[in-house]
This record gives sequence, structure tokens and C-alpha cells, in this order.
Amino acid sequence: SQYETILVEQRGAVTLVTLNRPQALNALNSTVLQELIDAFAAYDADASQRCLVLTGSEKAFAAGADIKEMQAQGFAQMYASNFFGGWEQVTRTRKPWIAAVAGFALGGGCEVAMMADFIIAADSAKFGQPEIKLGVTPGMGGSQRLTWAVGKAKAMEMCLTGRMMGAEEAERSGLVAKVVPAADLMDEAIKTAEAIAGMAPLAAIANKEMVNAAFEMTLAQGINFERRLFHGLFGTEDQKEGMTAFVEKRPGNWTGK
Ligand code: HXC
Repeated sequence: SQYETILVEQRGAVTLVTLNRPQALNALNSTVLQELIDAFAAYDADASQRCLVLTGSEKAFAAGADIKEMQAQGFAQMYASNFFGGWEQVTRTRKPWIAAVAGFALGGGCEVAMMADFIIAADSAKFGQPEIKLGVTPGMGGSQRLTWAVGKAKAMEMCLTGRMMGAEEAERSGLVAKVVPAADLMDEAIKTAEAIAGMAPLAAIANKEMVNAAFEMTLAQGINFERRLFHGLFGTEDQKEGMTAFVEKRPGNWTGK
């Protein structure tokens, strides 16, 4: 493979990306970031690929940003390189992607999982923002996305104490979409990704855009944005196909047009 720190595999229409730095519990250094940017851009550009699953190992989705890489850096260096700014590119992925999380998802690991469209967790998953224990704060969006996901009370408590949240609490709190036994995690994630990959591709992008708009717009703006995108899909072949297939009681045969 062209990558050092991740494995990328296509299974039909599903791209599986596996973080692969086992010696550092998948700590996210600049190489991992650059490789994820490249792999996600390649996925977005490949019309044969319709959903992506990002996962780690059984022990760790990712134990955070690479502490050893950050340790000696100063302000000027961090500011000049806009350290972590590249993660914005990952969040601009237009097509759907799922984080499949087992074991530790701490610091940057939790933050990257929260960048996904949704998280499926193994019952072994442990989420946390322990940066306070290192004398810092989240730096890849965790203070914002965690607060959106679980509300102020739990987000503030987690950031201030650095404690971990188990899978069951994470599901109850709205951080993850679903919890499954660890042994079933990849089957469940791939099965879910295949279901999404079987939908009309433009509708998938539109659904994703409008749910994400809820974080950026007022309710009235968001509802207007939704309605306009909905109207727009009536200019696609897949809308005609989807509604005709329903009437004819058969599955839709999507062209992505
Ligand atoms: C670099 C890391 C790492 C990390 C683990 N390792 N986490 N290296 N950056 N974030 C390395 C360890 O140094 C060790 O390498 C190897 O992975 C195995 O880890 P152990 O600690 O020996 O494993 P274990 O005892 O099972 O403990 C697991 C753990 C612990 C509880 C997850 O590793 C841990 O607390 N990690 C740090 C978690 C964290 O603080 N994350 C937030 C990072 S800051 P060696 O070479 O010793 O074998 C962040 C946000 C950035 O992500 C925002 C600004 C800072």
C-alpha cells in the first residue's frame, strides 16, 4: 500500500480505513493526518465508493494526538503550521463515513470519531478528553463537538476531569448511534456501510449536508436549506427511479445522476 500508518481496503462499494500504529495505540501524528487526508480525498473522488468506515484496533481506536510529537513544540511553531488545521479537510468529506470504535478513543481519538457522520461503538469503547491531564485542552474540535453531542453538563465534566465514558453511557448520552458486542463491531459497521452504499448517492450527500446544516444555521434557515435541497433532488434521475421503483414494488437501481 502507498500508506505507512493506515490500511485502506475496498470491499465492494465500501472503503475500509484502519488506523495502523499499534506500537503507539494509533496515536495520531502528522503522517497519520496526511494519510487520512489523502485516503478520504481519494474515497470522495471515487464514484465506485459510496460509504467509508474508519476503525482502529481492538485495544484502541486511537489514544489521542501523538504526545511525543507535540511535547517540545512552542507557540510560534504550532501557530505557523496551524497545527491540527488539516483535520478540517477530513471533515469536508462529502460522502458518508462511519467511525467504528473499539477500546480507547481518547483526546484526538475521540475528536476524530466525533468528526464521523456517526459512531458505532463496541461495548469495549472508552471515550474521553483527557488533555487537561497534560496541561492543555482538546485541539481538534472536541470541546465543541462533544458539547453538541452530549450537552454541557457531561462535556464540561469530561473535559475538566479527563475521565473516560464507557460505551453504554456514550449511547445513552447521544455520543454514539449504536453499541454492539466487540466481536460484532466490524460486521455491524460494514453491514451498516453497505446499507448506506446501497442508497442513491446524491441523496446520501444531500441528507448529510442538511443534517450538518443544523449545527451551522438557525432553525428557519436550516428548514429552508432542507426544502431547497429536497426540491433540487427532483432534478435527478434517481428521484424518478426511486419513486417508480416504489410504485412498481422493486428495489431502486441507482445511477447517481
Ligand atoms: C503518543 C502514545 C499515546 C499518545 C499511547 N502512546 N498514547 N504515544 N501519544 N497519545 C504510546 C505509549 O507511550 C506507549 O509507548 C504505547 O503507546 C502503549 O501505551 P501504554 O500507555 O503503555 O498502554 P496502557 O498502559 O494500556 O495505557 C493505555 C492508555 C494510555 C490509558 C490509553 O496510553 C494513555 O493514557 N495514553 C494517552 C491518552 C491521552 O492523554 N490522550 C490525549 C492526547 S492529547 P511506549 O513506547 O512507551 O511503549 C490529544 C488532543 C490534542 O489527543 C489536543 C492538544 C494536546
